[in-house]
Amino acid sequence: MKETKIARAEGKNRRGFMMGALYGIPVLIGGTLAASVGNYLFGKQAAQKSSWADAGDVSDIPRGEPCQVRFERAVVDGWKLKNEQSSAWIVLDEQRHVTAFSPSCTHLGCAYRWQAEKKLFTCPCHGSAFNIQGDVVVGPASRPLDRYATKLEDNRLWLGPLRDSQGA
Ligand code: FES
Repeated sequence: MKETKIARAEGKNRRGFMMGALYGIPVLIGGTLAASVGNYLFGKQAAQKSSWADAGDVSDIPRGEPCQVRFERAVVDGWKLKNEQSSAWIVLDEQRHVTAFSPSCTHLGCAYRWQAEKKLFTCPCHGSAFNIQGDVVVGPASRPLDRYATKLEDNRLWLGPLRDSQGA
């Protein structure tokens, strides 16, 4: 009789353990996956947004004329640190105030270029145009060009986080 009670208790313990494993393992796997995906998506963005990149010497950049510069930015990707190539359109005015635009059109992200004769940034994909301040002159783009945070240290230009034209 005693053995039967012990056997029944052991059976209950074993069943409890199996049920715990049955529900606990998928929750553990799901949580780990969610944490990994979240770290990949948001951790990478945070790393990109917080870093400053050396975009070079601006002493030769003509005043009042947009100039495209290329630079490398250190990016944390998971546990790896890698350098990512990027570019910006720089406008340096007579007072050495610098504006740095993202190279992507705010319509659907195509690369645009400066057309000196029109004094406009024009996008070849769907015809959007922006003035030298980055404002939309011709759609379909509906918002100004996005900008990098900037700082000048002597003649060295540093580009920080990219801010979209809506302030995000
Ligand atoms: Fe530039 Fe559409 S991506 S106009």
